[in-house]
Amino acid sequence: MIKKPKGFEDIFPDKIGLWNHIKDTAEKNFKLYNFREMRIPIMEYTEVFARGLGNETDIVSKEMFTFEDRGGRSLTLRPEGTASVVRAYVENGDYNRLASCKLSYFGPMFRAENVQKGRLRQFHQFGAEMFGSDDPYHDYELIALMDNITKSVGVENYDLLINSIGCTECRPTFTEELKKYYQDKINSLCTDCQKRLDKNPLRLLDCKQKGCNELKTDAPKIANYLCENCNNHHTKLKGYLDNSGIKYKEDDLLVRGLDYYTTTTFEFVSSDLGSQSAFAAGGRYNGLVEQFDGKPTPGVGFAAGMERLFILLEDKIKKTNSLDVYMVHTGDKTLTKAMEILAKLRENNISGDLDPSSTGFKSQLKKANRENSKFVIIIGENELNSESATIKELETGEQNTIKFSEITDYLCQIIKKK
Ligand code: HAM
Repeated sequence: MIKKPKGFEDIFPDKIGLWNHIKDTAEKNFKLYNFREMRIPIMEYTEVFARGLGNETDIVSKEMFTFEDRGGRSLTLRPEGTASVVRAYVENGDYNRLASCKLSYFGPMFRAENVQKGRLRQFHQFGAEMFGSDDPYHDYELIALMDNITKSVGVENYDLLINSIGCTECRPTFTEELKKYYQDKINSLCTDCQKRLDKNPLRLLDCKQKGCNELKTDAPKIANYLCENCNNHHTKLKGYLDNSGIKYKEDDLLVRGLDYYTTTTFEFVSSDLGSQSAFAAGGRYNGLVEQFDGKPTPGVGFAAGMERLFILLEDKIKKTNSLDVYMVHTGDKTLTKAMEILAKLRENNISGDLDPSSTGFKSQLKKANRENSKFVIIIGENELNSESATIKELETGEQNTIKFSEITDYLCQIIKKK
C-alpha cells in the first residue's frame, strides 16, 4: 500500500461541511470589510521567502520544501502567503491599479515541521493583507475582521494577544539591551537560542524551552524602548479596540517567528488547542514592500490556520453536514415511487438519497442516521395503497402522514423554516 507523506492529510466528505463553513464565513467577512480575493502561485523562486521572511527564521533555515527545477533554479513550495502577495503587488505595479489595496487569499501552505496535533506539513490558510497606510486604524480593522470571523464560525474560548515590537528606529536599542542581558547567561540558553543571540535576539523571547523560558521574566521589556511614533501607534490601536469592545491581552513576549514585522503583532490563541495554540496571527510589516524593490509602502495583515479552526469546531460537524431526506422503501413498486418523489425533491433543492438494494427498514434507518439525514420518508405497501408516506424527523422523532402529492411543499416549508 502506498501511503501519503507524513504531515499531509486527506480530507474526506464528512469533513467538507465544516471546512466549507469556515471558508465561506471567512469569504463573507472579507467582502464585508472590502477585501478582494487574489490567487498566488503555489510555489515561488526560493529568493521570495529567503528575502521576505528572513534567512535566520526557522521557516527559511529549516522548514522549506525546496528543490531545483530542470533549469537549475531554486523553487520553494510556499510556506506562507504574505511574501508572495508582496512580490505580486510589486511585480504587477498594483500601486496605481487598485483603488484600495485590500487583498485576501486562501490555499495550502507547506512547512517541513515536526508533525503534531495542529501542526502539519501541508496546511491551509486564509489571509488578508492591506497596503498603503500606516494608520493604526488598519491594524485595528484587520484584527476586528479576524475577531468577527472567529465569532461567526462559532469559536467561543479564545484570547487575542497584542504587542508592538517597534520599528527600525527604536528596535535596535532594544535588541542591543537584550544581547547585553543574555550575554552572561548564554550557557543556560538552548542551542537554537545560543545561535539566535547574535543574529536574531528578539526570537529569544519566543522560545518555549524551559531554561530560556525562565530567563524571559527579567529580560528588558520592549514597551520601555518604543519611540514616540511606535508608542502613539500602539496607544491608538488599543483605543480603537477598546471603543469597539474587542477584548485583548497585552503580551510583551509576542515577537512572532517571521522577520518582516514592525510595530503591531497579534495572535488569536485558544487553550483548547494545546501547545499549538495560535489559530490566527499577523501584524504590520512596513519595510517589506521596499525589501522587494517596491517603493516604500506600509502593510499589515494576518493569516488563519484552517486545520486549527477545524479542531476548535469539530463538534459542530454534524450540524453542517446533514442530508435533508433519506428515502426508505421495500423494493419494487415502493422503490419506483421513492425514486419519483426523490427526483421531485431534488428539483426543489432538497437534498436526498436512497439505497436501491436495501429493503429492510432497520438497515435503511441505520443508513439514514449514518448519513446524518434530517428526515426519513417511509414508503411501504400500506403507504403505496393510501397514496401517502410517513415523514419522520430524526432528531425529534416527530412523524406525520403526508399525501404523495403534498410531500414537496410540506418539506420545502419546514426546511425553509429551520
Ligand atoms: P504564521 O503565524 O506563521 O503567520 O501562520 C499563521 C497561522 O497559520 C497560524 O496561526 C496557524 O493557525 C497556521 N499554521 C502555521 N503553521 C502551521 C502548521 N505547520 N500546521 C497547521 N497550521 C499552521 C503567517 O503565516 C503570516 N504570513 C501571517 C501574516 C499575514 N502576517 C502578516 N500578514
